[in-house]
Amino acid sequence: MNICILNGSPRLNGNTSELLKPFFEELTSGGASVATVQLANRNIASCKGCYHCQDVQDVYGCIQKDDMHDVAQTILKSELIVLATPIYTWYCTTELKAVLDRFYGFAKFYSSATGNLVEKKRIAILATHGYDASYAADPFVIGIQRMCEHYHMGYDGMYSVRDVDGLASFQTKKAQSGAREFARYLLQKNS
Ligand SMILES: Cc1cc2nc3c(=O)[nH]c(=O)nc-3n(C[C@H](O)[C@H](O)[C@H](O)COP(=O)(O)O)c2cc1C
Repeated sequence: MNICILNGSPRLNGNTSELLKPFFEELTSGGASVATVQLANRNIASCKGCYHCQDVQDVYGCIQKDDMHDVAQTILKSELIVLATPIYTWYCTTELKAVLDRFYGFAKFYSSATGNLVEKKRIAILATHGYDASYAADPFVIGIQRMCEHYHMGYDGMYSVRDVDGLASFQTKKAQSGAREFARYLLQKNS
């Protein structure tokens, strides 16, 4: 199975990246081919709402020439897309939100082009946050569930860990074995 992890954390050695280590290891040792995209290292502009993509048939079709085109190819090759993010202001980071908005070009729902390039792909979330999980992440989870409905994608759930002690919170046996367990669950669900 091809999996792509979109890491939206601006801190490449931060909490979310730490939690991704055991998660990535478990996915790859379980036989998945995993591409991790560090969005903080990419140049991805916000969607301009021009709808150009809606008149471009069969390909992603965004008129903006930036790194989203590479990321789009990685997404298109993957059956499962993992959204990895710290919760920022009750949602994902700006880096990841830009990518989520730029999904628009995958589905031709609004003008002359037709088709949906991401139909039946699946999305999972790996998140870190300062507040408790439900209070912190519910708005993001609801947003992603609705996004999945809109794009006719499947939602595979979230694994998240609370930041109570900085990096150490994500190095505990519990946090790391939870990440491994979530990876095994995703592999089994998508096999
Ligand atoms: C700008 C900013 C906004 C944040 N907003 C929230 C929030 O809304 N809810 C929450 O629970 N934690 C919030 N946090 C805490 C982070 O989600 C948490 O510390 C996370 O583990 C950081 O992950 P990172 O090291 O990968 O960046 C925020 C942190 C920052 C810097």
